[in-house]
Amino acid sequence: MTKANARVALITGANVGIGRVTAIELAKAGHRVIIAGRSLARTQPILDDIQALPGSLPALFLPLDLSSMNSVRTCAEAFAALQLPLHLLVNNAGVAGARGLTVDGFEMTFGVNHVGHFLLTQLLLPHLIAAAPARVVTVASRAHKRTSGIDWEDVRRPTRSITGIREYANSKLANLLFSAELAKRLQGTQVSTYSLHPGVVDTEIWRALPTWARPLLRLRGLLTAEEGARTTLHCALHAPQTETGLYYADCHPTAPAALGQNAELARALWERSEAWVR
Ligand SMILES: NC(=O)c1ccc[n+]([C@@H]2O[C@H](COP(=O)([O-])OP(=O)(O)OC[C@H]3O[C@@H](n4cnc5c(N)ncnc54)[C@H](OP(=O)(O)O)[C@@H]3O)[C@@H](O)[C@H]2O)c1
Repeated sequence: MTKANARVALITGANVGIGRVTAIELAKAGHRVIIAGRSLARTQPILDDIQALPGSLPALFLPLDLSSMNSVRTCAEAFAALQLPLHLLVNNAGVAGARGLTVDGFEMTFGVNHVGHFLLTQLLLPHLIAAAPARVVTVASRAHKRTSGIDWEDVRRPTRSITGIREYANSKLANLLFSAELAKRLQGTQVSTYSLHPGVVDTEIWRALPTWARPLLRLRGLLTAEEGARTTLHCALHAPQTETGLYYADCHPTAPAALGQNAELARALWERSEAWVR
């Protein structure tokens, strides 16, 4: 692949954790990588690491705060101004245990993990469709199994559970349903979608959890960020283009919980999300 026809990948939240490893591996695989995140200063070391890879294309940074629809819109406009094609969108950024409301009035974890990525994907879709074959990879979680459903009123209220895990589970169920519904709506476009569980990974995402809850995670055996990026990279680089709309764990398509297979709920979430970001 020459520099002129390199595939372009945009990844959210790649200054640390699973996203950082994913960005570097995508650059090694020949992609021009664009990292969208909250801080250029915190992302600069990864831009430098990519720059230092032999034969790599310089990575770019775009400001993005997923808790603000204004910021998401500005990010999409900044991408359009680059006049680059887009072959791969990795919706990776996420929070767990965050509290409060986003500026647009969504429960913080649901707003960042689902609503922000829903809007970003909508705004970038024309670029993905124009560059097809293309992919949208959304980092969900096995935690989607820990909810009994999305309460449409709760997602418009500040975080209520003590640990924020219930709200995290809702947001990850939303990631998974979004990816499945997006696949249906993209039929015939050659843009494929993938959602995944990366494993339980030793990253900064657990920093907002109460200190008493963290040892419980360690008991489950944490993966390194390198191990945690494997399923994202499988979906981005190796899963067949025809395998669209599926949920992966350990680099294989896996059945989600029953709610994650509920087509009615996926459609309802989509319709509400469209109305929310209008
Ligand atoms: N770690 C696990 O065990 C695990 C398990 C299942 C699923 N996941 C999922 O994996 C993905 C990556 O998580 P990780 O474990 O690598 O966590 P991490 O190390 O905490 O990284 C999260 C990334 O998201 C960014 N981010 C947070 N809030 C943001 C916002 N408002 N706008 C834009 N970016 C924001 C962070 O940027 P800042 O530095 O600016 O905060 C950071 O780059 C998440 O979607 C997570 O839900 C993780």
